[in-house]
Amino acid sequence: MATPIVLPVPRGSSSARLRAGADLDTQRGFWIEAFRRVRTETEARAAPLSAEDQIVQSMPDASPTKWHRAHVTWFFEQFLLVPNDPAYRIFDERFPFLFNSYYVAAGPRHARPERGLITRPNCADVAAYRAHVDAAVTKLIEAMPAEKTAAIFEIVEIGLHHEQQHQELMLTDILHAFAQNPVNPVYDAAWRTPQVGSKHEYVSVPPGIRSIGHDDEGFAFDNELPRHDVLVPKMRIARELVSNREWLEFMADGGYSTPSLWLSDGWAIVQNEGWQAPGYWRQREGTWYVMTLAGEQPVDPHAPVCHVSYFEAEAFARWAGKHLPSEEEWETAARAGILEQAFGTVWQWTRSAYLPYPGYRAAEGALGEYNGKFMVSQMVLRGSSLATPSGHERVSYRNFFYPPARWQFTGVRLAEFN
Ligand SMILES: [Fe+2]
Repeated sequence: MATPIVLPVPRGSSSARLRAGADLDTQRGFWIEAFRRVRTETEARAAPLSAEDQIVQSMPDASPTKWHRAHVTWFFEQFLLVPNDPAYRIFDERFPFLFNSYYVAAGPRHARPERGLITRPNCADVAAYRAHVDAAVTKLIEAMPAEKTAAIFEIVEIGLHHEQQHQELMLTDILHAFAQNPVNPVYDAAWRTPQVGSKHEYVSVPPGIRSIGHDDEGFAFDNELPRHDVLVPKMRIARELVSNREWLEFMADGGYSTPSLWLSDGWAIVQNEGWQAPGYWRQREGTWYVMTLAGEQPVDPHAPVCHVSYFEAEAFARWAGKHLPSEEEWETAARAGILEQAFGTVWQWTRSAYLPYPGYRAAEGALGEYNGKFMVSQMVLRGSSLATPSGHERVSYRNFFYPPARWQFTGVRLAEFN
């Protein structure tokens, strides 16, 4: 059995605290409903997938759907139920080893690249695990003594935001798996990426000392804090996302065969991986197709480019004579309301390294591992994507991936200085 750990309240910002004014029954009802809604969405996203689909792990970075469903459940078991409910019975003593992701303080864990080898517990076992934890969490929220509810609600809340992050990964990971399959499976025939608008203009971002970071209304992860001042230079940002049409021009102009456009590490990957186009693009008889959650589709020139790495985004910007915005420039522009498709289409790479904000301190204990230990060698993405669950996005949100990653829904917005 994993050792129960003492869990401090995460050093993020919580809407649990803001709701503390409401009477306790109202608060309990709110969190039970929020919990039910998020847990249901996870199952809705898994529903189109067969048991076989849910086992596959197509690369070490992507996890099986079944693993995602179990891991988010383990999170509630490990961080909420075990430390706070003396009557709680661990569903299966073998599961914490299988479904802990990277929390060293929560005990040993199964090797990430081998998650696809776990055929048992099967999908039905995972469904039973989910039901067991759902019932226990609901009972805990209903019955917890009043003086302990604030801490409980905060852990429920971070668990729900954590599960929403995995809901997006469920889609990105199954798309990667389906893209390896010559029959081009369809996850959702109705999946469509909104097109980019036709205003090809650059707009001024309000320069000067600006405040970025979470503003203490509602939930935020700790990496969005503390709010602090930054200096935004005189610059302009593209109102629209970069489109496939523009990307095709980059390709036609030798974008993937001109080393001077690329960072050295990026050029090495272009050569080693044979990159000639964004992720999931295939060419047949002169026409480009792209694998999507709706199966293989012709590349739509009016859709935003998607599944590009930081290296590709940076090379494209150089080719275009532009730059990627920094995360503070992006956030200032988004707060000013001057960006189209800031949210809900594709994540947008920034030129900002993923670093702690001035004064950032990770929480003590296992949940301190949530964000802080990843603050090196990755780049920040802003906005949200079509795969992001509704209500999960916010203007201060900091997503982060390694520069070569392109299996997420990642696109490009440009900036210019003059
Ligand atoms: Fe996780």
